[in-house]
Amino acid sequence: MSHNLLNLTGSTEQDILELIELANSFKSGDLNEYRHENLFPDKKVASFFSEPSTRTKLSFEIAACNLGAKFLDFNIENSSIQKGETLEDTIEAMMLMGVDLCILRHPESVIHDLAKKFSSMQFINAGEGSVAHPSQALIDLMTIRESKEAFKDLKITIVGDLDHSRVVSSFLEAIQIVGFKSITFCGHPDLCKSYLDNPIGNFEPELETALQDADVIMALRIQNERLSEKLSISASDYVERYQININSLQVTSPEMILFHPGPVNFGIELHKEVAELENCKVKNQIFNGVGMRMAILTKLFSQA
Ligand code: NCD
Repeated sequence: MSHNLLNLTGSTEQDILELIELANSFKSGDLNEYRHENLFPDKKVASFFSEPSTRTKLSFEIAACNLGAKFLDFNIENSSIQKGETLEDTIEAMMLMGVDLCILRHPESVIHDLAKKFSSMQFINAGEGSVAHPSQALIDLMTIRESKEAFKDLKITIVGDLDHSRVVSSFLEAIQIVGFKSITFCGHPDLCKSYLDNPIGNFEPELETALQDADVIMALRIQNERLSEKLSISASDYVERYQININSLQVTSPEMILFHPGPVNFGIELHKEVAELENCKVKNQIFNGVGMRMAILTKLFSQA
């Protein structure tokens, strides 16, 4: 792993498998909790989130606490950014005050220049517009690995708002490193323009056909905050055609596993009833988020 985690470009299968193993090694004996290890008492980790977050930010905070590092929850709303200070000057101030690692979420691709400019500080990309969200992809691979033997045998179906999803971009980057059998993209064509004719996988407009053979199904939220124009399908038609529910899952195999990065809009992309199915791994993804982020912080600190 390099000095920063900006994307997964350049990562090898071995890097990813090692991170998964390290993440699992932090689980306590009964696998329901993470151990506290005072590995990095001198490290200061600051968050800089210019977009909302629950899972990503909190799990990084919990991961840092579990490792004995200090977590500084920087609040943009109460900061000098409100007085006109630039992002760059803010990050520089953080660095001068001794922040070792900054976890950054931003609607634009600003993290690459910041990481270059302030190279004595480390950076983790916690969401870059619709472009990248590498730690989420690593969590998803970790969660797949709990139920499936080999990545290379997997038939994967991704359903929903693919165009605006940084989770999908990073997942595709990750899965191409570890291998897969096939990928099917499914969703309303307004939300899948980049996936109608994509070399990585096939586009399938019918939900039931897309779900039929899948070993792994990933559902995605319509990211209304990123839509530039109104959808040409009504909410009720969308639910009718693309919602994953007990009925649409009838065609799937009993070993299929269902993912969603969260937050889930229950009643839209997923019916609430699927959350309690044994096949649904959404809660495992949230729990694994802490372990994977402990692993990422540990690896990065050992590169510092
Ligand atoms: C996602 C994100 O922010 O990209 N959430 C997450 O980090 N787990 C997905 C989303 O917002 O739909």
